Amino acid sequence: VNDTFKSLSDLTLADRYDLDEVLDKGALAEMVQSFEELTRVSTRIYGASGQLLADTRLTPPLYALLDRHLPGRLAVQKVIDRVRRAAPKPGTPERLPCISGGTFLALAILHDGRVVGRAILGPMLDPEVGAPPPELLEVAGGLSPTELDACFARLPKVSALEGERIAAHLERTLSLLVWSGLKAHLATNLHLESVKESFRELSEQNDKLKAAHDRLKELDRLKSNFLATVSHELRTPLTSIIGYSEMLLEGIAGDINQDQREFVETIHNKGEQLLGLIKTLLDLSKLESGTMSLRKDMMSCGALAQDVVATLTPTAKKKGVQLLARIAPGVPELYADSARLRQVLLNLTENGIKFTPSGGQVAITVEAGFMPQGDTGGAGAVLMGAAKRPAVVLSVADTGIGIGVEDRDRVFDAFYQIDSSSTREAGGTGLGLSIVKRLVEAHDGLIEIVGNEPQGTVFKVTLPSKRPPQ
Ligand SMILES: Nc1ncnc2c1ncn2[C@@H]1O[C@H](COP(=O)(O)OP(=O)(O)OP(=O)(O)O)[C@@H](O)[C@H]1O
Ligand SMILES: [Mg+2]
Repeated sequence: VNDTFKSLSDLTLADRYDLDEVLDKGALAEMVQSFEELTRVSTRIYGASGQLLADTRLTPPLYALLDRHLPGRLAVQKVIDRVRRAAPKPGTPERLPCISGGTFLALAILHDGRVVGRAILGPMLDPEVGAPPPELLEVAGGLSPTELDACFARLPKVSALEGERIAAHLERTLSLLVWSGLKAHLATNLHLESVKESFRELSEQNDKLKAAHDRLKELDRLKSNFLATVSHELRTPLTSIIGYSEMLLEGIAGDINQDQREFVETIHNKGEQLLGLIKTLLDLSKLESGTMSLRKDMMSCGALAQDVVATLTPTAKKKGVQLLARIAPGVPELYADSARLRQVLLNLTENGIKFTPSGGQVAITVEAGFMPQGDTGGAGAVLMGAAKRPAVVLSVADTGIGIGVEDRDRVFDAFYQIDSSSTREAGGTGLGLSIVKRLVEAHDGLIEIVGNEPQGTVFKVTLPSKRPPQ
């Protein structure tokens, strides 16, 4: 299906595995060693492709002796070559003669009817052979006869029948080891594959998520573009409507009666309202696409607060809400776009008045403070042991209907209004706070909502006081 997913027969090693893949080498060596201690016969195990997997530790003394001179070494080599090439048939051990007069037994290791390796036992000497045979004496010529006799005597004495019993025993032991080894190997393999499979699934999900995310981002960009174009195109005819209604009101096209004047005034006012909305949408799309440019200069937040109070006092009075500003002494000037910050404060204060019943109060506070800890102003600051960054804090506190904890994030979403029922008294479109938040963030500031005591809402804007670029 695909190459990361192994077939079942791959997973279970159904028809191709080698002994060294499934057997634990340490355990095999241990087994061979104790097997030799028990039978005194040297044992070697080879994998299916001929690699040596386990060996007894000692060379038989006779071979060590023969190895000391050339004819002996050649004779031993010949025996070893022959033993190595042995290809015993499954079920019948092959007997191979040894220069000592003894024999080797080669047997196939079977698993599930397939040869997975070979075992070699030997050399062993039939108890009936009492003295070194003539071939041995021939290749041992020149070596000490007493030493030769001693080494010969140390060859293990095993009858043909006993040898076959030992071979059968070894075969059974090995096949048990293969079974358990295969089982362990399968378990780890399956585990590994399932881990790989989950990883593959995860990466697939991840890719899908990324694609979805990219698509959403693209849609978002298209939406901002659309918003920008549409509001821009709407503005031109609307400006004409407002302009012509103003001319009608001024009597440029002749006198109009009282009814006509009222109608044209309504057209003018609604046109202005629509223009305000379109400007807001334009601002939002500029803020979203990051194309809003800020005109920064040194400015005073105290003066800004007083200006906002002056602007909104008539609205507050009409509603029976007390509006005031408290400006702490010694608040530093900010390097910021004062028109945009005015928009921020105006929006927050308008909301405060709008959502506070008659008899309540809206208070704007301006004071010096610090950016919250954790806001480091760049990764470097963490390493430098961030000094607290000075800031100006603007708060707008009202005694109105309040904002529940669950809504404190969502009110910053565009068009989100807590009570969107048709019986809702307060007007508006739900764009104010989304613009406020983006404008604050464009100034590297933070905005948060906390509850006011005993009731109402506090919007807290913290703006870092930065020096203008030199
Ligand atoms: N001071 C406040 N007290 C209680 N609720 C508030 C306050 N300010 C905002 N809200 C809630 O958050 C919503 C979103 O405010 P936002 O300023 O974004 O929109 P709006 O005031 O309804 O409309 P717009 O500002 O576009 O004229 C409001 O509709 C209101 O439900
Ligand atoms: Mg608002």
